[in-house]
Amino acid sequence: ILPWREEPGPYHTWLSEIMLQQTRVEAVKGYYARFLSALPEISDLANAEEEKVLKLWEGLGYYSRARNLQKAAKKIMTEYAGEMPNSFQELKKLPGIGEYTAAAIASIVYKEEIPALDGNLLRIFARLTSYPKVVLEPEGKKLAFSYFQEKMQGIDPGDFNQALMDLGSGVCLPKGEIACNSCPLKAFCSSAKAGNPSDYPKLPEKKKRKVEQYSIFLIRHQEELMLKKRENKGLLAGLYEFYKLEGHCSEKEALEAVENLGLRPLRIKALGEAKHIFTHKEWEMIGYEVYCGDFQEESGKAKRTWEKQGYRFYSKEEIHGELSIPSAFAYYKQFL
Ligand code: ADE
Repeated sequence: ILPWREEPGPYHTWLSEIMLQQTRVEAVKGYYARFLSALPEISDLANAEEEKVLKLWEGLGYYSRARNLQKAAKKIMTEYAGEMPNSFQELKKLPGIGEYTAAAIASIVYKEEIPALDGNLLRIFARLTSYPKVVLEPEGKKLAFSYFQEKMQGIDPGDFNQALMDLGSGVCLPKGEIACNSCPLKAFCSSAKAGNPSDYPKLPEKKKRKVEQYSIFLIRHQEELMLKKRENKGLLAGLYEFYKLEGHCSEKEALEAVENLGLRPLRIKALGEAKHIFTHKEWEMIGYEVYCGDFQEESGKAKRTWEKQGYRFYSKEEIHGELSIPSAFAYYKQFL
């Protein structure tokens, strides 16, 4: 028994499915009731101040869900005469409504025979059929879709989908918590018969991280150190980094590189190797500390090339004050 099951309807079911996308059932209940008492109809949602909608969403997270919800409400008022579209295909045209949500609304509210494939249904399919491949791939989804669509013939499609959602969240749980003994589908389940339901679903191979190699330079002049602010987007956005070259260079190459910056290296010290692991890549670094003499002031060639590359010398106070060097460089920061 759930509030949105007690009083289904286009707006109620839609709202509940959007809230349930990234949030647990128990957490959603209160938000669902509060939202509907503040904005009881689609027209109220369309006409509300965005601030008010976001405030009602506060704490649920993933705020683009709330913004899309309101965008879709406005579209329903202007393009659909205030009536929620009533088919799987048409529902998908609304902001924030993808395959899964369209299928859930179409089946629960309009009784369209469309399986609402989420992680639960895909896991159940993979175990019922001992699906040997990765079920998350397009082929797996297509097979799961036909499999469930055939089975749901003659049954209320909303009940069918929601029964499977409940089976997935209470019985046919992810690895380690599977409760086959209380499963009403045990007798039809290929992997339960084979005694290996936890071997399914097959997971995609983890992508290997890309390995990048860098040479890191602590370039010193008097009491100052050369750094650059990284771009404001992408990896380590807006943070500061040492002078750095692609690849691992030898001491001789390191000295040449520093000279090419328009500097006069006096002394070099190898700092050793370090590694930093990001989500999608890995840096293998070697480091050098290079002490430089006063800047060459002869006119013309290669003077202050470092400035053209965005580097600058920073004082100790600046470095230990507001500016931040990311922990990817932690090993080299100890030499500061
Ligand atoms: N999770 C997403 N939609 C659901 C529903 N209709 N019932 C139970 N859990 C859900």
